[in-house]
Amino acid sequence: MPENGRFYYDDYVVIKALENGVTVIGLTRGKDTRFHHTEKLDKNEIMIAQFTEHTSAIKIRGRVEVLTKHGKLRNDE
Ligand code: TRP
Repeated sequence: MPENGRFYYDDYVVIKALENGVTVIGLTRGKDTRFHHTEKLDKNEIMIAQFTEHTSAIKIRGRVEVLTKHGKLRNDE
């Protein structure tokens, strides 16, 4: 158990595409930060994504609604 009692993979984000052709990109954890996975979502598709040993950041292109522990975000307003 880490000192703060939390594992990075306890964190999830929920992404809902508000248009076709949204791209969700996973970026690597560690010394190099690079794209390792690209996922395409069409309108109204939902992806539930974890942070993992391999993924430290998630980049999103296109209009979405995102739920995180920090709140609900939209990038079209
Ligand atoms: N193989 C990746 C991993 O285990 C899959 C993945 C997890 C992913 N979370 C992601 C891909 C977020 C894109 C975005 O880390």
